[in-house]
Amino acid sequence: MEIVMDMCLYYLHKIFSVKSAAKSDGFFCLKFRKDNMSNIQTFNFSLGRKERNKLNNHTSFVVWFTGLSGSGKSTLANMLEKLLYEAKVNTFILDGDNLRKGLNKELNFSNKEREENLRVAAEVAKILVNSGSVVLASFISPKQTNRDMVKEIIGKDDFIEVFVNTSLETCEKRDVKGLYKKARAGEIKNFTGIDSPYEKPLNPDIEINTERENLEEAAQRILKLLQKKLELK
Ligand code: ADX
Repeated sequence: MEIVMDMCLYYLHKIFSVKSAAKSDGFFCLKFRKDNMSNIQTFNFSLGRKERNKLNNHTSFVVWFTGLSGSGKSTLANMLEKLLYEAKVNTFILDGDNLRKGLNKELNFSNKEREENLRVAAEVAKILVNSGSVVLASFISPKQTNRDMVKEIIGKDDFIEVFVNTSLETCEKRDVKGLYKKARAGEIKNFTGIDSPYEKPLNPDIEINTERENLEEAAQRILKLLQKKLELK
């Protein structure tokens, strides 16, 4: 009888600890993560960003495009990348839709998981900056707090914010991916601009109004802003 009781207690304990581990953000989990972090030491590699920048003959940083879905962020990043390629600049595009198909495929569009999506994107962008690339990052990044976090991770000197200012009416009229229609029909929840907010940036480095300016001109205007920053000191 005692053995049966012990077994029952053992399995109850097992079930309970698995459940609490799944809830992840509990006290013990946080403590474990802290202890774990204190056991990690970074290795100082001989070659770094400075050497890679010298090899490439240009600096590296992030150009972060923010705006509604369908505002033209990715199209603009694509055009700018071609201009930079012609100027022999090493680039890489990070794009919300693409990242969400791989690295971030388990994340949804709640505020919390958007934040995680953007945190991961910013960390990847930072790695790419250290690898010597100019990163063109295209993410809705709907909240000022999202963009503040991203800027903090990347570092303010390596962060250029481009606000692709296209009105909801225009994005919805274009509806290139047919997502606004679905959102209006209630088939997609938390859709930015419909039932999830978009906060305009307070102080972007550059603002593109795609309703007044054609994208080719806009890409040229961004390139002009980058030229000085690309020069090695
Ligand atoms: S973010 O808010 O976390 O920055 P992200 O840029 O990665 O968003 O992804 C946005 C893209 O996901 C949109 O361009 C659109 O194609 C697609 N998408 C799917 N569901 C949603 C949704 N609920 N809200 C916004 N975009 C969505």
